[in-house]
Amino acid sequence: MSTNPLSLKHLGVALRRVGYRPRPVAQSLGILAWNGPQMDGAWWERPVGNGAGLEELVRFFVRGEALEEAGLYRLLPELEGAGLTEDLPGGRVQASGTVLPLEEDLIWGDRGDRAFSIENALFLPDSTTLAMRRFLPRQRVGRHLDLGSGSGGVAARAARSSDEVIALDLNPRALVGCDVTAALSGLDNLVSHTVPLAQAARFGSFDRISFVLPLLMPWVGQQAADIHTHAATPQLLSELLDLLPVLLNPGGLALFYAQDWVGEGGVERRLRLAFGDRAVSGAFCWDYEGQSVKGPLRSGIFAVRADRGPHWAEAPNQLPALGSEDWWPAMAALLNEPVKE
Ligand SMILES: C[S@@+](CC[C@H](N)C(=O)[O-])C[C@H]1O[C@@H](n2cnc3c(N)ncnc32)[C@H](O)[C@@H]1O
Repeated sequence: MSTNPLSLKHLGVALRRVGYRPRPVAQSLGILAWNGPQMDGAWWERPVGNGAGLEELVRFFVRGEALEEAGLYRLLPELEGAGLTEDLPGGRVQASGTVLPLEEDLIWGDRGDRAFSIENALFLPDSTTLAMRRFLPRQRVGRHLDLGSGSGGVAARAARSSDEVIALDLNPRALVGCDVTAALSGLDNLVSHTVPLAQAARFGSFDRISFVLPLLMPWVGQQAADIHTHAATPQLLSELLDLLPVLLNPGGLALFYAQDWVGEGGVERRLRLAFGDRAVSGAFCWDYEGQSVKGPLRSGIFAVRADRGPHWAEAPNQLPALGSEDWWPAMAALLNEPVKE
């Protein structure tokens, strides 16, 4: 795939101009708005009407349908030559990937029919991505590290409230995914690298860190499944907790979505062991509780604040999935700190 940032930037502007925005796109798929539970299914497969204009673009960029080239380029001239199409016989073209509008961002990812079959497929944003985006504070910081970036579903949001975002993923295809997302979204402060979590300290330390971890196990059939069917390793959360004291600047904040299994003991204990004499506070806003072969397991967003505390709190996530893109105030309350960082 050969793309050029400037053409992609123009395409992003054109997409917004023709109304390719979160609510109309969600609604053409029969979804009221992008929200938690609706994003856990195969949202890219939902039926869309056969109309021209926006519905045509949703069929192309979300459902991955092949469309007649001439009509599509008339509707969106900036698409021609942007590098996001694949030619098919008979004057038809197909999108090389999905484009998901979230707030001001346009998140590129693998096409739905490839997302679970090709090697190094990119994660398609789901409710965990949305939760992380909503929990990110709006107050601006200097350096943000987005771990496990995929194609930038979280990194793009982070780039709107930081001077610089370093996005890391061990999947080599995440690099191109993040670059396309950044260019379509008009962001020039997001740089991505193919690097595993274990080497993140090479990039220095950060004011804010985000990581949507791969699930340790699927929620369906969970009692029978092994604990790390989805993640490459069952130790990823422990690895992250151990690295936080090195990666976080004084007073820095880490937010991560995870299932709360760290082997022996709980997350709070592991965190305190990792920080040693350095003060640390934490909170866990969990949205699902189930059973696993290792006992009860919850998933949700953890927040860790370096150099404050000791304080720890846990609460179920009862925030509205609709009508609020800013969940940080609830997490700040759980962390026992003022909303403004
Ligand atoms: C659940 S996806 C989240 C993707 C993206 N942040 C989002 O929310 O849409 C988890 C990502 O973590 C990456 N990952 C898994 N283990 C990792 C590791 N040890 N170091 C860096 N990235 C890792 C995977 O390749 C995948 O892209």
